[in-house]
Amino acid sequence: MDLRATLNGAVIMAPMTKGGNLPYRRLCAEEGATITMGEMALARKLLRGHRPEFALLKRGEHETCFAAQLAGNNAQEMAEAARIAAQRGADFVDVNCGCPIDDMTRRGLGSALMLKPKRIRTIVEAMVQAIAPVPVTVKIRLGFTEERNHLEVAQAAVDGGASAITVHGRTRTARYRRAADWDAVGEVVRAVSVPVIGNGDILFPHEITAFRAQSGCAGVMIARGALIKPWIFREAREGPIDLDAQARLALYARYVKYGREHFGADERGDRRLREFLLWHLGFWCRHVPQRPDGTFPTMQVREQSFEPRSELEALLYRQDTPAIEWLCTMLMQGADVAGPVPPPSESRGERSEIAEG
Ligand SMILES: Cc1cc2nc3c(=O)[nH]c(=O)nc-3n(C[C@H](O)[C@H](O)[C@H](O)COP(=O)(O)O)c2cc1C
Repeated sequence: MDLRATLNGAVIMAPMTKGGNLPYRRLCAEEGATITMGEMALARKLLRGHRPEFALLKRGEHETCFAAQLAGNNAQEMAEAARIAAQRGADFVDVNCGCPIDDMTRRGLGSALMLKPKRIRTIVEAMVQAIAPVPVTVKIRLGFTEERNHLEVAQAAVDGGASAITVHGRTRTARYRRAADWDAVGEVVRAVSVPVIGNGDILFPHEITAFRAQSGCAGVMIARGALIKPWIFREAREGPIDLDAQARLALYARYVKYGREHFGADERGDRRLREFLLWHLGFWCRHVPQRPDGTFPTMQVREQSFEPRSELEALLYRQDTPAIEWLCTMLMQGADVAGPVPPPSESRGERSEIAEG
């Protein structure tokens, strides 16, 4: 595969634990994600034959270009795991150097690798040797702490043979608190010889154009934006799409259909699907359309003055548990079985926790 050509102008669905479940990737691929990435899999668990980890490498038949993402800090293990991923049909294999979760970084995994550029180089070298010509890519942040070292890390990955670098424009310590620094992504673009994918804060299609123009990145990667509005990939091609509440429901119903096909139409499958659906509804309810004055909401600033344009839109915007559970039941069983719509609750309810990778 000519990865450079594939990445040029690509709008990639980011690797997301839970969010990148196979039926959701199918939905995003159909909406226009040209590259989809699997949920992070732990190299060591793969080598130990841990079955659920293998499921994370499964490529859906609707994915035209699929990448597996691996986490690990041992070169031999990562090489062996990459071989497994490539054998299972990954078009390229990505190394996770961005996960900020303490449980991972304590073990030297994810973004903790940013502290060890030489190790990144060795890991990539071993993986490239194991799976060439299948490309190896690396996803990084700007730094493990506020002391940024993205240029050094990116260069180490390229020296090891990485075919592309994704830069999430934030440090580990910034989490999601600060806006992604697209200029810093541009610094990597100018420093390395391989294509760079820019990642962070894309919610509307004009931001794809702006990100590319500001940084010069080859392609962009979208995570939360894809969870909130899977049609962002369609917008990438067609421009802003103002989906009304009915059309949004139809899209969510497609997820339910694909979920049933994937998890199974029995009781166990239904339980699993319900769990995922509730989780997804926690993101879908965050969608706010273009403002009446023509400007756009942004990922980083919570919209204060959104006035839903229909009852259904108001229901979809509710973030309280009764509303989310009602919508979940309605989507799974049909409106009449879900009973009367629960009254608007006073509390806004808890926003869904954003797990980070
Ligand atoms: C629910 C969730 C799960 C994630 N899981 C992963 C993961 O497994 N691997 C990874 O490299 N990044 C993971 N990320 C980080 C995203 O890929 C992305 O780098 C980050 O969210 C910034 O992009 P955004 O501003 O478009 O959300 C995850 C993000 C979210 C919201």
